[in-house]
Amino acid sequence: MRVDSTNITAHKMAELGADEGTVVIANSQSKGKGRMGRSWQSPPGNLYNSIILKPQISPSLSPQITLIAAVATAEAIGKTTGIKVKVKWPNDVLIHDKKVAGILTEMECQGNTVKFIILGIGVNINAPLNLFPRELQGSITSLREETGDYVSLTDFSRCLYQEIEGYYDLWMTVGFSRIRNEYNKLFLLPEESVQISSGVKTMSGKIQGIDDKGALLLCLSDGNIERIIAGDVTTRPKAEDLRKCS
Ligand code: BTN
Repeated sequence: MRVDSTNITAHKMAELGADEGTVVIANSQSKGKGRMGRSWQSPPGNLYNSIILKPQISPSLSPQITLIAAVATAEAIGKTTGIKVKVKWPNDVLIHDKKVAGILTEMECQGNTVKFIILGIGVNINAPLNLFPRELQGSITSLREETGDYVSLTDFSRCLYQEIEGYYDLWMTVGFSRIRNEYNKLFLLPEESVQISSGVKTMSGKIQGIDDKGALLLCLSDGNIERIIAGDVTTRPKAEDLRKCS
């Protein structure tokens, strides 16, 4: 099935009353959506899916679902291929520094309660990298590229849904702390000097991990710790950023 975006389809279905746990899966997307208004290239051969969730949580906790999905995706890749992956806060899953999966979480609220969350996950599995725009080809990878073998979409999706269900249940029953530990173990660039742009401002510093709410902790050059809720991380080593953070 080809859709514009599985997130858009799932959103429409949720508005019409679809149950929690409903999944929309597509072979390709004509208008795949990425974070921050970017597009998500979606040729056939990869996994494009969106899950409808209805957690009874405060909307302020919803960014945690992106981190939960990143851990679940990392686990599913590890279990199906044996490859160890890293995560780049908040939503990039990488193999050897190249992006293999991305997560887009969109929330609909009613007052101060969550009506539903659309958890969209795209994983580059079998589509040849030459189907992607040239400017992306150096920064992305796929499971097929990394393993040298065709990877079953069915086996991978089954494993992914088991992981998501396991971590989602853990989150609902115990909270975020164990997932936070798992996420921090997978962190790309811990202790490294990075630049983070959050749309309004850009900051440099050293990553300290995520806190118990899922915010990124960045140690600034003056030694203060900044909590960042949303943003884009890039590596930008600067000696002065490291001075007070070691
Ligand atoms: C990102 O890294 O910018 C997030 C990418 C999210 C892509 C997935 S593919 C399935 C779902 N449908 C979409 O339109 N986007 C998400």
